[in-house]
Amino acid sequence: MIQRTLCIIKPDAVRKNLQGNIIQKISDSGFKMLGMKMLNLADQTAGKFYEIHKERPFYKELCSFMTSGPVVAIALEKENAVADYRTLIGATDPSEAAEGTIRKLYADSKSENAVHGSDSEENGRNEVAFFFAESELN
Ligand code: RTP
Ligand code: MG
Repeated sequence: MIQRTLCIIKPDAVRKNLQGNIIQKISDSGFKMLGMKMLNLADQTAGKFYEIHKERPFYKELCSFMTSGPVVAIALEKENAVADYRTLIGATDPSEAAEGTIRKLYADSKSENAVHGSDSEENGRNEVAFFFAESELN
């Protein structure tokens, strides 16, 4: 099934100027880029995007990290996009991520882990819509 999934290149990776390498890797893996924007997340936007983690101990730290600098949001589309993109980025904790994955290559820690990826088909659709109007997408 053709699916959408949302990539966010997180502030740690943008600070290290890794966005070009990450975009290249995603393109090389066969994802179509439907839309891309660099932006600074407002506190409220980050809080809302990560609302599912509201009760988790790392929620506050996560929101302040995600607003600490610019991010790049990319709407992706591909057959089986959600699972294939999560395979490409690797485990949440880079020390547990497989060789060659984006997090293994570029992430520093479990908190500052270079990229976001949607975790289900429904969240993929919803998270793309969170950042992009349908009229903005290719
Ligand atoms: P993401 O949503 O960003 O793609 O990451 P994920 O699915 O692999 O991990 P998730 O459990 O959804 O956690 C969301 C983000 O919260 C931060 N985190 N920090 N310090 C910690 O123990 C911890 N655990 C999670 C990470 O930035 C993680 O990507
Ligand atoms: Mg997640």
